[in-house]
Amino acid sequence: MIEIVEVGPRDGLQNEKRTLTPEQRFEFIKHLSASGLKRIEVGAFVSPKWVPQMEGSLQLVTEIYRRRDEFAKTVQFSALVPNVKGMLDALTTPLKEVAIFGACTESFSKKNINCTIAESFERFEQVIAMARKHKRKVRAYLSVAFGCPYEGAVPEKRVIDLILKLAKLGVHEISIGDTIGVATPKQVRSLLKKLKSRLPLTKVAMHFHDTRGTALANVLASLEAGVEVFDSSFGGLGGCPYAKGASGNLATDDLVYMLEGMGLKTGVDLNKLLSYSARMQEEIGHKLPSRTAEAGVPRLVT
Ligand code: HMG
Ligand code: MG
Repeated sequence: MIEIVEVGPRDGLQNEKRTLTPEQRFEFIKHLSASGLKRIEVGAFVSPKWVPQMEGSLQLVTEIYRRRDEFAKTVQFSALVPNVKGMLDALTTPLKEVAIFGACTESFSKKNINCTIAESFERFEQVIAMARKHKRKVRAYLSVAFGCPYEGAVPEKRVIDLILKLAKLGVHEISIGDTIGVATPKQVRSLLKKLKSRLPLTKVAMHFHDTRGTALANVLASLEAGVEVFDSSFGGLGGCPYAKGASGNLATDDLVYMLEGMGLKTGVDLNKLLSYSARMQEEIGHKLPSRTAEAGVPRLVT
């Protein structure tokens, strides 16, 4: 079984021009759960001045737990937390998992969370200590691992050092992000080959953006290296507001299509998942980039 971490309600919607209401986001998440997705990142406890699209995440998460019986029992929710303030919000809810997020370059760190990499690790330690005390799991993202919109190429050694540093903090999983969709399979293979001897790849998730059409090729390279957790976004919604050109998260629909076609189980009902595409297109006011949403599911794989 391959684990998919659905990031559409967060990474997807945070980059849309139209802000969806917490009620619209709630219905979307209900649909994702009903389609068989087991891990869903539902929002972000970040500053609404920085990312207005995520405003109301506290209200949304509270509502999800108030109406928990409307979601599959097995589904696990998480949300982004950048600092102590965000963690204090998360702790007012029963959320069992939060995600911290850092970057491989100083420029991206500054643009995204307004601090240096060293300062971000100080914040992570504070958040992790709070999470540990309250028995919440912590996932970590590491952005711009294959290239930065401000600094260009990122040294592989620096990426590995940061991944190991995050692992040392005690997070349960590290999601390695190709934030601007520049990675190629050669880079992915090389990074994972070197990482493998230092960290079990069961602790790693890959987070690809399909900005230049290489996301599925990068998934394949990661699968071959032994990675079993992938982040993706319904319909290919989204990107990152602090990375110009980062549109196009890998679409969950395209990922599920490829994995199931390869005989790898995801637990996702693809036709059910796609039945929300038209509604989402109407809500965000434009076409979704997913190829599978556009072309449909052929009979041979249903
Ligand atoms: P800051 O301005 O340096 O924060 O922002 P501050 O501590 O100086 O506080 C300034 C104001 O923000 C204060 O309010 C605080 O209360 C408030 P004021 O007094 O001015 O009214 N504030 C908050 N409000 C709500 N929630 C909070 C919070 N913290 C402070 N948690 C901060 C620092 C980290 C808050 C800001 O930079 C921020 O929110 N950044 C988030 C950016 C973001 O969400 N980016 C997108 C996610 S990352 C991504 O997409 C990449 C990923 O997908 C992986 C990949 O693709 O690579 C994960
Ligand atoms: Mg992302």
